[in-house]
Amino acid sequence: MASEGRGAGRPRVLVARRVFPEVVARLQAHFEVDARDADDPLAPTALAERLQGCAGVLVAGTERIDAALLGACPGLRAVCSMAVGFNNIDVAACTAHGVLASNAPGVLTETTADFGFALMMATARRISEAEHWLRAGQWQHWSVDGFAGADVHGATLGILGMGRIGQAIARRGAFGFGMRVVYHNRRRLEAADEAALGARWLPLDELLAAADHLVIVVPYTPDTHHLVGEAEIARMKPTATLVNIARGGVVDDAALAQALRERRIAAAGLDVFEGEPAVHPGLLAVPNVVLTPHIASASLPTRRAMADLAADNLIAALTGGTPPTALNPEVLGAGMRC
Ligand code: GLV
Repeated sequence: MASEGRGAGRPRVLVARRVFPEVVARLQAHFEVDARDADDPLAPTALAERLQGCAGVLVAGTERIDAALLGACPGLRAVCSMAVGFNNIDVAACTAHGVLASNAPGVLTETTADFGFALMMATARRISEAEHWLRAGQWQHWSVDGFAGADVHGATLGILGMGRIGQAIARRGAFGFGMRVVYHNRRRLEAADEAALGARWLPLDELLAAADHLVIVVPYTPDTHHLVGEAEIARMKPTATLVNIARGGVVDDAALAQALRERRIAAAGLDVFEGEPAVHPGLLAVPNVVLTPHIASASLPTRRAMADLAADNLIAALTGGTPPTALNPEVLGAGMRC
């Protein structure tokens, strides 16, 4: 029996990298689906070739969608990402080409905040370093200052970027761990929101100097490239930790590696890297850094919700509906490519 949207002439869409079969099945109810079953992102030329004849594409945060690709794929009308960060998508170019773009905010907030907090705790309490030492068979004695780290409870939590995820981290710090929460964001929160979160805005320089634990959650844009570099790290306490769950490129990884090597800050926890999956060799060479492979949103229910939200956007965009989390809703209707 034909299900909704089935029939000749259905639009063709590409799922640019492996997602859950249930999500592909949802798309198949509406579209002819070319679903890749691979985890490696397509290079720009291969992506453009594979998109010929496609009206839509479901991407992650890794496929580059720019004016060149949009020009090379004249049938493309919707680009729907399962990531919240959308620095891989040139939204202005999408709008200029009449292509709907969407990301996946909201569904990953709490999971990502959990991970940011976990990474901060692992960093402060030197959990990876201690585990590697134990696995290497070096545990002979208990010692009074063995792997002594920094306290999290009662410390000053500095949050750089106070969007949804920053606020979820602030709540964990203030109400779960009795931390003093200070933050910096281009746009200051309303006083009532600051009060509800127990958070105080500071200029960036003061935030860097005040934080015992700095967690970075700003989006990556030309303005935030190397927002935290050598000069900013120099303002931090030598006992401080730095956690980056935002995007590679917000932190200057070379400057950070050198600061860690020289113990100018105590430790770092990094889930994202400049040029990932490559990792700066200086970071691999120091013990006082916890390194994870861009997994802050990686719980199964959350990854499924992210993929489902991208599918919701794609289905709505190509069937005359209202995509729930469009980045450029102004292209819908007359502004959209035919
Ligand atoms: C992950 O980094 C995302 O942007 O969703």
